Amino acid sequence: MSKPRLIIDCDPGHDDAIALILAHRHAEVVGITTVSGNAPLDATTDNALMVTALLGVDTPVHRGAAGPLVGEPAHAAAVHGESGLGGVERIDHQRQAASDDAVGFLLDTADEALWVVAVGPLTNLALALERDPAWGRRLAGISIMGGSTDIGNVTRVAEFNIFADPEAAARVFDCGARLTMCGLNLTRQLRSNDALAERLRRTDSPLAQFAAQSFDDLHDRIETLTGVREAALHDPCAVLAVTHPELLETRRQAVSVELDGKHTRGMTVVDQRPQPPGGATRRGADAPTVNVAYKIDAETAMGAVVEALGVKNRE
Ligand code: BDR
Ligand code: CA
Repeated sequence: MSKPRLIIDCDPGHDDAIALILAHRHAEVVGITTVSGNAPLDATTDNALMVTALLGVDTPVHRGAAGPLVGEPAHAAAVHGESGLGGVERIDHQRQAASDDAVGFLLDTADEALWVVAVGPLTNLALALERDPAWGRRLAGISIMGGSTDIGNVTRVAEFNIFADPEAAARVFDCGARLTMCGLNLTRQLRSNDALAERLRRTDSPLAQFAAQSFDDLHDRIETLTGVREAALHDPCAVLAVTHPELLETRRQAVSVELDGKHTRGMTVVDQRPQPPGGATRRGADAPTVNVAYKIDAETAMGAVVEALGVKNRE
């Protein structure tokens, strides 16, 4: 079977880097677009270039938006370090961004067989929709790491990627594309821990060594923040939703992004009420248009991740 074709829109970011590595193993990655998010745009773009150099691929990297549609950029240095890839040894490389027009690249590359996997704030995607409201419908689909059906991580109810640009997220959730949402309720099921980092450290592969350093830093930071020395592998889940859809259980539901609430701005409000049988929509409810992911086969998913990092079976 041929590999799915996709663009990754990202803000690397520890888990974004793992998502990039996973995608290059299991998909045809036609391009990477970067956005301000975990770190400022210069840093996320540098990190995307460095990961492609580490992979030895020439996937084009296009710089995107330096901040959200409204307000000031939010970053996540407490989780990823100021550079976005704290604690990771930088490698020398000659790679440079292919352009600073991520939006043009997203628009020009769209076709019915192309997926966009969006694992950062959704600013670039919203700007593409501003220029072509039909853009989302010209794609195979958009797989989003963002939001939550239950608790948040930046606020009680808001997840970082949506919180960092809620106006952009609202446009994307409303654009009519085939959407999959991998929220925190899902991504917290796929977790790294010290045993995984140790296994990677013992693996003779530059990707495994990189990932071991990345996980060590991430585990230190998450332990400081939460007291738990484990991290959710958020962004790889959105890649797996395209490359290994059989590993996820989804339900088709309506999702709206809260833009106003004093305590709820950036929340994904998911209609989890039972729907009438036969595919009808509950009276007065919005049409269920998003495939909301609820469950992942974490063991098989982790197998795909470690394999992409160069770990041989049973190593
Ligand atoms: C999301 O926010 C970022 O910090 C991660 O890279 C992930 O995309 C999780 O809330
Ligand atoms: Ca991310």
